Amino acid sequence: MSQLPILIYPDPRLRKKAAPIDAVDASITRLAEDMLETMYEAPGIGLAGTQVNVHKRIVVLDISEARDEPHVLINPTLEILSQTMLEAPEGCLSLPGFYEPVARPDAIRVAALDRHGAAFELEAEGMLAVCIQHECDHLEGRLFVDYLSSLKRQRIRKRLLKQQRIRA
Ligand code: NI
Repeated sequence: MSQLPILIYPDPRLRKKAAPIDAVDASITRLAEDMLETMYEAPGIGLAGTQVNVHKRIVVLDISEARDEPHVLINPTLEILSQTMLEAPEGCLSLPGFYEPVARPDAIRVAALDRHGAAFELEAEGMLAVCIQHECDHLEGRLFVDYLSSLKRQRIRKRLLKQQRIRA
């Protein structure tokens, strides 16, 4: 397994829409494992292909405290199950250091393939529902800052650009 570099906002590649995966072959299983390792090392609770510059519809996540409940979702499709919105602070490995509240439906159902290509469905609520929606947004080129005011988004953008200049 190997760790993959994570794109940092406002990298324009984070805005690319990911393409469906035709076949879950050995290269995809390997990609899922590399993404899980990258997420655990970061550390983070979720990671989308888009964030490691692989524009394919795959996300990995693990919201468990023990970090032993990995989920791999390939070609995920979401269905909203609740009109109740949950507002919770979100962060993102592509926006290191920033946490802002975002409101999202608090219950969803997701249909996807696992890392071996088997179809499954998962009903999720609370944090898991939030995390799945956040990761699936990445596949559409959407980031959690898109739900904030443009003033807030611009402020975060400026600070991240400045940090990247300092590191460069
Ligand atoms: Ni994210």
